Amino acid sequence: MVKVEICAGSHCSLVGALNILETLEELQTEYPGQIQIEKVECMDMCDDIKNAPVIRVNDDLITSAQTQMVISKVMERIK
Ligand code: FES
Repeated sequence: MVKVEICAGSHCSLVGALNILETLEELQTEYPGQIQIEKVECMDMCDDIKNAPVIRVNDDLITSAQTQMVISKVMERIK
């Protein structure tokens, strides 16, 4: 099981966290029971807006997250 925590705080939402969430939800449908997605409050990493969006895949913290990068990290852990 891969655990993905997506920051749903205002800074991260502003720069696309929720788009990444949508894509992850599609991936979750393709791999039932293998991906757990959790929306979390501000992770206090966005003092510098460049860090947003912030996403954690298991213990791996990703700043300035982009969809493709997050999907790759999730897929590495599924396989
Ligand atoms: S809003 Fe995402 S780290 Fe602050």
